[in-house]
Amino acid sequence: MMTTNESELLAHPPAPLMELENVGKSYGNIIALTDVSMAVDAGRVTCVLGDNGAGKSTLIKIMAGLHSHDSGTFKIMGEERTLRSPREALDAGIAAVYQDLAVVALMPIWRNFFLGSELTLGRGAFKRLDVKTMKQTTKSELARMGIDLRDVDQPIGQLSGGERQCVAIARAVHFGAKALILDEPTAALGVKQSGVVLRYILQARDRGLGVIFITHNPHHAFPVGDRFLLLKRGKSMGYYEKKDITLAELTGQMAGGAELAELAHELEELGGHGELVTEVQAELDGKSGTAPGDPAAT
Ligand SMILES: Nc1ncnc2c1ncn2[C@@H]1O[C@H](COP(=O)(O)OP(=O)(O)OP(=O)(O)O)[C@@H](O)[C@H]1O
Ligand SMILES: [Mg+2]
Repeated sequence: MMTTNESELLAHPPAPLMELENVGKSYGNIIALTDVSMAVDAGRVTCVLGDNGAGKSTLIKIMAGLHSHDSGTFKIMGEERTLRSPREALDAGIAAVYQDLAVVALMPIWRNFFLGSELTLGRGAFKRLDVKTMKQTTKSELARMGIDLRDVDQPIGQLSGGERQCVAIARAVHFGAKALILDEPTAALGVKQSGVVLRYILQARDRGLGVIFITHNPHHAFPVGDRFLLLKRGKSMGYYEKKDITLAELTGQMAGGAELAELAHELEELGGHGELVTEVQAELDGKSGTAPGDPAAT
């Protein structure tokens, strides 16, 4: 059940749910993150953007208790912490949903929803699963998020990637998460399915969760984000409130105009990549502000 009193949270905004200040992390002699600062508030979506190897996963692994940071400070509700395990993160109300969702494909949706937190009836030798309540709860929690699945008895493996992400989000909300980390939830999805996931990100936000949305796609981040952290090779390239940046600027910042121009040139020289060149060119035009593009166009 939700334990947080949402209205109270909104009426008296406390310290940010999470706050990172100059956080750094190395793996041996590989510096994965340096001096990264960001905040996560209840009822807000903080987006972390960056290309492959930018340090996005490293950053969220620190928040999810999979890795510990080795410099800077990480505060949860104003209190400095170093998480030692995913369990510690969960106890602090931080839930993470990864791209490769840990679901048991052949098990029904409701079993996956309650996986590891099964409801039971009776004691000792008479202990048994409370199937009825679990099914009902799964159905009603999904409905509350606006997810209408015909049958919670269906194996979860039959759901689309987008629907599975949505079930995972609803699950985190149900089990009382205060902060929800989504690592590239739309990366493997088509336009329509991405739209569905983006809508549930907003649902989770509206239910008072602080959402951390990791993506390399500014077209997915911009419509749902309140703040944007741009990472590049482990460093922060900027941290913006939505009012301070446009989609075109975000796209341009992400790609780096000069690098794009160079890429377009290289592709042209290689020949036979007409479409790609056009796409890169469109992105470049977007940067100069002439064609910001359709938010759903990727
Ligand atoms: N366990 C690890 N051991 C050593 N190096 C690592 C480890 N995890 C990540 N790195 C390195 O740290 C850097 C940041 O990686 P990270 O996975 O955080 O990037 P990312 O932004 O999530 O990339 P992607 O978009 O590909 O998922 C990379 O150079 C990567 O090779
Ligand atoms: Mg990653």
